[in-house]
Amino acid sequence: MRTLEGTTLTIGGDLTVHRLGFGAMRLTGEPAWLDRPTSIAIARRAVELGVTFIDTADAYDLGDNEKLLAEALHPYPPGMVIATKGGQINIGREWIPLGRPEYLRQQAELSLRRLRLDRIDLYQLHRIDPLVPLVDQIGALRRLQDEGKVRHVGLSEVTVEQLAEAEKITEIVSVQNRYNLTDRASEDVLEYCERRGIAFIPWLPVAPATKAGIADPITAVADRLGATSTQVALTWLLHRSPVMLPIPGTSSRAHLEENIAAASLPLSADDFAQLSAT
Ligand SMILES: NC(=O)c1ccc[n+]([C@@H]2O[C@H](COP(=O)([O-])OP(=O)(O)OC[C@H]3O[C@@H](n4cnc5c(N)ncnc54)[C@H](OP(=O)(O)O)[C@@H]3O)[C@@H](O)[C@H]2O)c1
Repeated sequence: MRTLEGTTLTIGGDLTVHRLGFGAMRLTGEPAWLDRPTSIAIARRAVELGVTFIDTADAYDLGDNEKLLAEALHPYPPGMVIATKGGQINIGREWIPLGRPEYLRQQAELSLRRLRLDRIDLYQLHRIDPLVPLVDQIGALRRLQDEGKVRHVGLSEVTVEQLAEAEKITEIVSVQNRYNLTDRASEDVLEYCERRGIAFIPWLPVAPATKAGIADPITAVADRLGATSTQVALTWLLHRSPVMLPIPGTSSRAHLEENIAAASLPLSADDFAQLSAT
């Protein structure tokens, strides 16, 4: 039985963070009942509980998500990494990649302003724009690095081939793909990241587990450990790989506390194997 409480991951050789991060997306926009003081209190509670890696994006509520984080946490405590993303716009329910170099530059500049930072520790290309050459998109981020406005570059929703291509242009230190216990389509990307020491940041890490059924393996392990299905899904991710950095998102303080506690859940090799076989 091993717990992964207190374990860390070093991104890009110099950003050491606790392995359970926080996804801020659900702190703004919806649900409608979530007011500003509550969102601020949840972000602060995440930090109190030891979170040192928070994920946001320029497109989350048209930049308001970044503003909220600055409102809640600035001046940021030492060691806190606020990772943001650019290169995808959100219109209603539609998400559209937009990777023109001048747009990426503008968005990074706006993120710096909203987050009240001089440099963004991790800037992730939210999506590769199929209409713009990859070299132009990554090249724009590389220039921001050269100017000291971005420390490290990450990608989101990429294939192994795209990742390898981008690595020829600048060092890629993280990949954010959808991945969880019941959706492992990005297994090959995860394995590539493991071989290259690239942080793998799974999005949608817990939502499917919240719908776990009465008789499924997730629920069976959860019952045995006296834990919730969400906690089991998170602890499985942490045990799956040392480069894994889950960013569960929530608009509920109780869920936040439950999710962070997952790092101290012991998982036996048998339970890990049983879950992996689902
Ligand atoms: N790169 C990308 O393209 C991309 C796409 C989507 C998201 N993201 C990032 O990934 C982060 C996480 O993704 P996500 O929010 O979509 O998925 P998620 O973290 O897997 O799931 C969040 C959902 O699960 C619920 N939930 C969370 N903890 C729970 C718990 N302990 N018990 C019951 N329900 C719980 C939340 O509802 P409550 O609010 O009620 O807790 C919410 O509906 C986001 O915040 C964002 O930063 C990235």
